[in-house]
Amino acid sequence: MKDKPDTPHRSPVLWAGRMAEMPDAGAFAFQASINVDRRLALEDIEGSRAHAAMLAKQGLIPPETAAALEGELRRMGEELAAGTLAIDGGAEDIHSFIEGVLTERLGDSGRMVHAGRSRNDQVAVDFRLYLKRAIPRLRAELAGTLQVLLDQAGNHLETVMPGYTHLQRAQPVTLGYHLSAWACALSRDRERLGDALDRLDECPLGAGALAGSTLALDREATAKALGFARPTLNAMDSVADRDFALECAGALSILMVHLSRFCEDIILWAGEEFGFIRLAENWSTGSSIMPQKKNPDFAELIRGKAGRTTGNLMSLLTLLKGLPYAYNKDLQEDKEALFDSIDTAAACLEMFRGMVSSAEFNRERMRAACTGGFLEATDAAEYLVGKGMPFRRAHETAALLVRDCIAAGQRSIGERTLGELQARSKLFTEDLYPLLDPAVSVGRRNLPGGPAPEEVKRQIEKLRANLP
Ligand code: ARG
Repeated sequence: MKDKPDTPHRSPVLWAGRMAEMPDAGAFAFQASINVDRRLALEDIEGSRAHAAMLAKQGLIPPETAAALEGELRRMGEELAAGTLAIDGGAEDIHSFIEGVLTERLGDSGRMVHAGRSRNDQVAVDFRLYLKRAIPRLRAELAGTLQVLLDQAGNHLETVMPGYTHLQRAQPVTLGYHLSAWACALSRDRERLGDALDRLDECPLGAGALAGSTLALDREATAKALGFARPTLNAMDSVADRDFALECAGALSILMVHLSRFCEDIILWAGEEFGFIRLAENWSTGSSIMPQKKNPDFAELIRGKAGRTTGNLMSLLTLLKGLPYAYNKDLQEDKEALFDSIDTAAACLEMFRGMVSSAEFNRERMRAACTGGFLEATDAAEYLVGKGMPFRRAHETAALLVRDCIAAGQRSIGERTLGELQARSKLFTEDLYPLLDPAVSVGRRNLPGGPAPEEVKRQIEKLRANLP
């Protein structure tokens, strides 16, 4: 769609009849929403087509009028797509613009389309219709991102790395396990968006301004024609509430917080101190002054953009908090916030996917980082538990071994001789040593949900099975 009209069009103001004087140009522009809701043009046309057809079927407008409206609305859709009809930026909103063009082209037939309808139910229909398309696109983006993560995870079932708590090395895990943990979160994000989509799948058309209509509208018919599961139950609720927008904004905020956390890991891993990941050069940027720099800007920016989506959610919550029922013009602010969250999440998913699929992981650095932090201490304690020692005593014994190592300048419990180990507990025998190897440790953590390679393989398969 183009911004510049081929034929400049002055859209009529739908409520001008009531006023002896109109707001001046600046005030009119302030309350207009065309520059945001122009995005709903095709949905608005679709809603009008369904409404006009229903009006004719109910005997509320002549069949010829309905045919003319149908033809003109269809043409307008094509012209908007082709760029031969430009949206008038001076119109109050997309609803005024579409009705204005209809009236300009069809005369009284155009004037008949709004019977039994209000912009209050119209905008609610348009917004929900838009989300019925946008959310599945986002879910597809998410599915693609999940595939990339799961592919990388599958490549690294045996790539041992430290797992962290408090950003301190905690226990050995694998990169495949870490990436699968990310995938679990994204998989829930995809489900959450699906849940929101199911709940918003109700058609507000026929709710009117707030109290339905005296005209014999067929709400079932318009809901069905527009592909909604059913009409909304209560007209006032249909025009007053925006919890469907909140849910979508909430699901997108959670998704963005997830991406932000993954990016924080990536940023850490890309630093010299970790050295776990090498981001592709075309997924990095340089510095204008420091010639050596290769910065993880994409990850940083995704992390930063999570602030926008959080802000959009806060805007929507705040917008609704004190609103009396039913419609208030405040609600006009709902779309800009959610559109921005949708655009932001879609762009960030695409960037995240590109960055992760092209990244290389440094197995040696990850393996090396498993030594020196006494990540094997829990294994040693559990070894003693296996030999009958109460866990709290086993914990203390392993802790004392760690202290012995530190005092002796040793980097792992495995550096202690059997005699030194037995000085702390007679239960220690030679069979402890192989268990302290990070790969062995990971392999033995094969409970459901654990990091053992065959278990992570199962987790990956389960996550894949949920994808289209
Ligand atoms: N532009 C408005 C919105 O987005 C459409 C509904 C206007 N309704 C009204 N009574 N002013 O909410």
